[in-house]
Amino acid sequence: LLPIVVANWKMNGSLGLLNNIILNLKAIEELTVVEIVICPPSIFLSQSTQLIQETKTNIKIGAQNCYFLDSGAYTGEISTAMLQQLGIEYVIVGHSERRKLFFESDIDVVKKVLSAQQHGIIPIVCIGESLAEREQQQTFFVLDRQLEMVLAQADFVDPNRLVIAYEPVWAIGTGSVASVEHATQVHSYIKAKVPTGVRILYGGSLKPDNAEKLFRQADISGGLVGGAALQAKDFISICESANRVFL
Ligand code: PGA
Repeated sequence: LLPIVVANWKMNGSLGLLNNIILNLKAIEELTVVEIVICPPSIFLSQSTQLIQETKTNIKIGAQNCYFLDSGAYTGEISTAMLQQLGIEYVIVGHSERRKLFFESDIDVVKKVLSAQQHGIIPIVCIGESLAEREQQQTFFVLDRQLEMVLAQADFVDPNRLVIAYEPVWAIGTGSVASVEHATQVHSYIKAKVPTGVRILYGGSLKPDNAEKLFRQADISGGLVGGAALQAKDFISICESANRVFL
């Protein structure tokens, strides 16, 4: 199973940024052992998939969200069936911003996971505790709750078809990356709960200067990168760290 580095652009970025990343990546042919997934805003998905086909790069395009029904009167939503038609291979599900700002529940998350898998799209399921939850020593309780339905209902026949991203909410966009000790402890906890082979990514203030040390930890199979994915140079540097570690 290839380690993965995922760029989550959130509501940022442009086709120009994707072009820039592709150009710079092409210069680094030895990036062979890492799967690179870029998740632009949905308005760019169609042109992004075209661009990577035209340039014959190995980058995969992912969506940041999806809805769990195929079609219908759901103003503003995009279905996994539609993503599948575009050839999208990954979708981020249950990012903490979706949970918090758009009130996504654990039930919504599992429905999206199942819908993605039914359409041959790999869900990247985000889990993680908030600062308050961490301070109240609720981390493992929260992770258990967020994982419970996914583990009970998702398809694990091929463990490659589901990815977990551990993203402590207090580390997202704050510049305070999790310590190696914290990340290692939580990743090994998650690892023990999920079927063998499910990849577990770390996310939250990953930067060129801290990625390698996290990627070196036993149960971390790559990363989910927000802010640092908006600069081609930083993102590629993180991909290179992954490549060094996993080669
Ligand atoms: P960050 O975001 O790298 O900017 O902390 C990560 C994420 O939200 O996935």
